[in-house]
Amino acid sequence: MDTDSNAVHYVFLGTAACFVLGLHLMNHPRTARRGNTISASAMAVAIAATVWLVIHQSTITTTGWLVLASGGLVGAALGLYAAREVKMTAMPQLVSLFNAVGGGAAALIAVNDLLQAENPAGLGARVSLPGALDIVIGAVTFSGSLIAAAKLQGVVSGAPVVFPGARLLNVLLPAAFVAGAVWLVLSPDSRTALYGLVAVALLFGVTMVLPIGGADMPVVIALLNAFTGSAVAMAGFVLNETALIIAGMLVSSSGGILTKLMADAMNRSIANIVVGGFGTGDAAPAVTAGGAAQVRPVSGDDVAIQLAYARKVVFVPGYGLAAAQAQHELGDLAKLLADHGIDVSYAVHPVAGRMPGHMNVLLAEANVPYTQLKEMDDVNPEFPQADVALVIGANDVTNPIARRPGNAISGMPILDVDKAKSVVVIKRSMGHGYAGIDNELYTDPKTGMFFTDAKKGLAELKAAVGEFVS
Ligand code: TAP
Repeated sequence: MDTDSNAVHYVFLGTAACFVLGLHLMNHPRTARRGNTISASAMAVAIAATVWLVIHQSTITTTGWLVLASGGLVGAALGLYAAREVKMTAMPQLVSLFNAVGGGAAALIAVNDLLQAENPAGLGARVSLPGALDIVIGAVTFSGSLIAAAKLQGVVSGAPVVFPGARLLNVLLPAAFVAGAVWLVLSPDSRTALYGLVAVALLFGVTMVLPIGGADMPVVIALLNAFTGSAVAMAGFVLNETALIIAGMLVSSSGGILTKLMADAMNRSIANIVVGGFGTGDAAPAVTAGGAAQVRPVSGDDVAIQLAYARKVVFVPGYGLAAAQAQHELGDLAKLLADHGIDVSYAVHPVAGRMPGHMNVLLAEANVPYTQLKEMDDVNPEFPQADVALVIGANDVTNPIARRPGNAISGMPILDVDKAKSVVVIKRSMGHGYAGIDNELYTDPKTGMFFTDAKKGLAELKAAVGEFVS
């Protein structure tokens, strides 16, 4: 290795240390923004160092330059536009698309390396093994993440899509790509092994994600994120690039830990989710709660009186809060009640919304005191003492039907909202949540339904409560 490469490798080591520091700072909402800036700046430095090395060693042709520059410009412009313009509610789809791009790019690096090798037959296992793994993981991530994004966007049904033989296929396809990968490692010059492996892995990504739905979706999104990291790390081995290996392994290990945490929180096993449709209740008909006739609609004034005279109120935010962008109205209402001496807290379910930490991000935007945010295990014992549980656009994470087998959310731990003394639900209609099933909470006699948009309803409540407590 020459002096320049040595210097650049020290820069890579420094950027890797910054990635770790950035991740560490993301542990807390107060420092998360700084963590993000440090990691992003380190990535910019790593890219600049790579380009500098390429220029310095003159290892690139004019066509290569054109590809590098146009790819960099188009990619950066699209990324910047998407990140600035995307609505908060569409963020999970965007993350899924980024996962697809990361996995696909990593797989293409290995394909290109094998196709361009001067003596492919002579490639040792040090290149062909990570190459084969890169292709498998990258291609599965690419097609799987595209299907996940389509499901989150509603282009493909969010419910499990199961066809005859799907589970058998999900056992046979991995066996096929293990065989294909072994073949490619033993004969790196075989085009049949190379293209066959790409095709089988792409197909598996589709058949793996299609049968997943309902309560399992958050786990698979975290899993695909971990896969992206592994594919990038394998690409690092193929290219012998330390920075890629370290960055990829960081994404892979943190994504892996998140997957395990999400699976535990959802009472799911990762293996069963991946093999397809287990635990989703895909074979069981949706259990209906009896229809709109039995619900008890309430007005804003009714709810305001209950809130103003309560001693303890627990807010239960969900996807509808994000859709309505009503976090500031919620924060204002909570502050008004707290200033009036009422004990207020927010019950945060691990998969409320559409991405990990979705509710924490929203509530942090509204400057809600962290001490009022309570995780599911901490807040559940408090519901029986709550005079009012105010549910704002949350549905599946409050559905008592999850405690029974045979439906799309069976086994998913829920917020015990139905144990509060009184429940009010703010939503626009009797429409379903992500899992597509009726919610038994709505027909509970102690539940009042305040049918309105969350932003409008919370503003109305704040004004009405203000009059009662002034
Ligand atoms: P959901 O069960 O999806 O329910 C959201 C509710 O919000 C809907 O019933 C909808 O009812 C209401 N809503 C929508 N827009 C609204 C508005 N403007 N104002 C008031 N209400 C509005 O949400 P949840 O309880 O947060 O559960 C999350 C679900 O998403 C779970 O099934 C979870 O497995 C899944 N999921 C989560 C993730 C992650 S990582 N968090 C990722 C993928 C999937 P109306 O239409 O009647 O208003």
